[in-house]
Amino acid sequence: MKSDFFKYQAQTTQFAAGFEVEKAEGSYIYGKDGRKYLDFVAGVSANTLGHSHPKIVEAIKTQAEKYLHVMVYGEYAQEMPVKLCHLLAEATPDPLEVTYLVNSGAEAIDGSLKLAKRYTGREEIVSFKNSYHGNTHGALSVSGNEYHKREFRPLLPMVSFLEFNKEEDLERLTEKTACVILETIQGAAGFLVPENDYLKKLKARCEEVGTLLILDEIQPGFGRTGKLFAFEHYGIVPDILVMGKGMGGGVPVGAFMSSRKIMESLSHSPKLGHITTFGGNPLIAASSYATLKEVLESGLMNEVEEKEKLFRELLVHPKIKNINGRGLMLAVNLGSQEYTLDVAKRCMEKGLVVFWQLYRNEYLRISPPLTLSLDEIREGCGIILEVLNED
Ligand SMILES: Cc1ncc(COP(=O)(O)O)c(C=O)c1O
Repeated sequence: MKSDFFKYQAQTTQFAAGFEVEKAEGSYIYGKDGRKYLDFVAGVSANTLGHSHPKIVEAIKTQAEKYLHVMVYGEYAQEMPVKLCHLLAEATPDPLEVTYLVNSGAEAIDGSLKLAKRYTGREEIVSFKNSYHGNTHGALSVSGNEYHKREFRPLLPMVSFLEFNKEEDLERLTEKTACVILETIQGAAGFLVPENDYLKKLKARCEEVGTLLILDEIQPGFGRTGKLFAFEHYGIVPDILVMGKGMGGGVPVGAFMSSRKIMESLSHSPKLGHITTFGGNPLIAASSYATLKEVLESGLMNEVEEKEKLFRELLVHPKIKNINGRGLMLAVNLGSQEYTLDVAKRCMEKGLVVFWQLYRNEYLRISPPLTLSLDEIREGCGIILEVLNED
């Protein structure tokens, strides 16, 4: 299988691991090599409830036996997407009420930008240096890393970039700015958290100049920081909330959410302001609804703080320079890209899956399932320390 993977499946780099998966369950991935691997990455913040959670599998099976795809997004009232949107409205603060379901995080970002331009009638977009919002042309245009963008220009015009956490830059939002888009916690940049009430100040500036605030919560949502969405820690509510990854519980999904008043503008002038065939697909919605219900009802979010604390207590070593992040999105600074990649490789050899941050390769990524147990944290951190002690 591995040789066919390299031969027939398009590659994203010249050095993919090509690890061959047999099955995955709970916190473990089982390889075709007959070994099991503790998973500290969760498909890059996607498997909120671990692998193949029984309630998710059951929800998908039940829906699959009823019907699969029946109509493009937005025409028919189908039980699962409706229940998902209803529960999201109940679980988020006002004025967030209406959810537009799409296929991926990047599509949700594109939809949110279109919504902001359409609602405000403005053209300019403000984003952030070192941000990552996905890889469609729209999402790439608002991502703040030149290396990944420069070969694909021209991208969207009228996008400018501020520095995250830099208050002085907020003056650059003006009455021409349709929206400002940012990750509540900057992911690819190494899980950087907002500091000194930055989000409150940003929100206040948005209100001053009539700009919509779009928060990309594709990594913190559902529950990864101990709240359903990370903005709940910072005393603000975005105008448009974007989610993806972990909301699916292991299936491809994205969504953007806003007040009814804002969202309505996508349904007229022009009608069909965003069109998507598979958005709101019942199978995907069933998985997402089961995930959301379990995150809300299981008490898992209340355990996040204790789990973060244990990670931080265990991961103390002269080779570890600092740990960024919040909750179960942690980035461990090992000083250099070469060393971090080597540590990740050796952890894998010892049965632990870890990864690195997209732009800051010197940071080891820890974004495990929320269901990871305290013993599993001890087991995995033991492997990391064992590897660091070899040097
Ligand atoms: C913060 C953030 N925004 C957007 C995306 C894009 O999501 P997707 O890969 O589902 O298109 C990602 C994916 O890594 C992400 O981390």
